[in-house]
Formats: sequence, structure tokens, C-alpha cells
Amino acid sequence: MDGNGRWAQAKGRSRYYGHIRGARVARKIIEEVARLKIPHLTLFTFSTENWMRPKEEVHFLMTLLRHRLRRERNTLQNNNIKLHCVGDLSRLPLDLQTEIKDCIRETRQNTGLNLIFALNYGGRQEICQAVRHLCQRVKNGELEPADISEALVHSHLDSSFAPDPDLIIRTSGENRLSNFYLWQAAYSEIFISQRNWPEFSAKDLHQALHHFSQRERRFGRTSEQILQALP
Ligand code: IPE
Ligand code: MG
Repeated sequence: MDGNGRWAQAKGRSRYYGHIRGARVARKIIEEVARLKIPHLTLFTFSTENWMRPKEEVHFLMTLLRHRLRRERNTLQNNNIKLHCVGDLSRLPLDLQTEIKDCIRETRQNTGLNLIFALNYGGRQEICQAVRHLCQRVKNGELEPADISEALVHSHLDSSFAPDPDLIIRTSGENRLSNFYLWQAAYSEIFISQRNWPEFSAKDLHQALHHFSQRERRFGRTSEQILQALP
């Protein structure tokens, strides 16, 4: 979800206004994704690098997230949404940590959309953490280095409960992943939207999904092989 600040500044408003409008768009898009029965949605909400922003903006973002989570508990329940988080939550303000834990607990039984907030999340940090766990297990004599497979690395990621994303949408026209799901994005289709996040709409989401549906996903094979394998 990129471009909140630039969108607001272009209108002569403060970056905070952009974040407020961005949060509203997030709600609309979450509801639409749930309605479309898409099983998983990750929102890259706050990166490990975002701590470097002015501390007032960081504080504003944390407070906004806590307020929105509190306000939208019913929305999560009414839409049968199960909340998860990836990233290191221990550095977040304690009141936000509590709000997140409560929301996760309250929505645990829900069976619809798995909504994942990436918070204090970085793809490299997630991989480092997995490497540390695996090294410890080798050191403990539980594993041999030769046992380390892709599946085993995946199982040590924060996001191991979710499949790799089929589609990654980046807004604000930037052509980069910015440390998002580096391991998981190996074969994701990437859709770059020119819109800033506060102006991203359900229609833009449908356009991204349509684009995705037109892609031929070969996973290293040839087009002929893919066509032959079709029922
Ligand atoms: C996305 O918008 C929201 C967060 C990263 C929290 P930005 O705040 O990155 O907006 P720009 O990129 O500065 O316009
Ligand atoms: Mg940005």
C-alpha cells in the first residue's frame, strides 16, 4: 500500500491525511477481497525500514492502526475474516500489541479470508530469522545441513501458514518489492498500479485480477507443456 504521503502532499494536505484516507481504502479492499472469496490477503502495512521516518509519523501510524483495529472488529466478524500478522510485533507499542492479540484471538474461529498484516516486517529479516532457527536445530543435532530443503526453509518463515502469493499488487507506480515477501515472491505475478493507495478502488483491484487471469504461469516450463497439461 504505497503512496499515501505523496497523494496527500499533492493535494496540499499533510501526510497524516493520506494515511487516514489510505486506511479507509484498506477497509474497502479487504471487504471486496473477502466478497470475492480470495483465501489470503497480505497488506504490507509497516516495514522494518519505516522506523526511520520522523517519529511523529511513526507514532501516528501506530495510533491509527490501533484505532482502526478497535473500530473494525465487527467488520472482521461480519465478514468471517481471520486475522494474522507477520513481522516482529515485539517492537510495536504495547497497546497496539494487545489490540492485535485480542483481534487475532477473537477471529481465530473464522473460516473466510485470512487477512495478514505485515507489521515491522522485512523479507530479509524473516529469512535471517529462519536461518538462525535452522542453524540452532543443526547445532542441537536435530538436523543435518543436507536436510535443509526449500520446504523446510518455508516452514521456518513467519508466513509459513500461508501459501506463496499468486499476485502482488504495488501501488504508486514504483517498480520494486521493497523487502516484501522476498522468498515467497519467487513466482508471484506482479501488478504495478500507477494509482496512489488512497485512490486505489475496487475497480482497480478487478483490473489487477483480470490482468492476473491473463498470465500464463509456466514455473520454468514451456508454453507447450503447460497447454498439454490442461484438462
Ligand atoms: C504507504 O504510503 C503507507 C506506509 C508505508 C505506512 P507512504 O507513507 O509510503 O506514502 P509515500 O510513498 O511517502 O507517498
Ligand atoms: Mg512509500
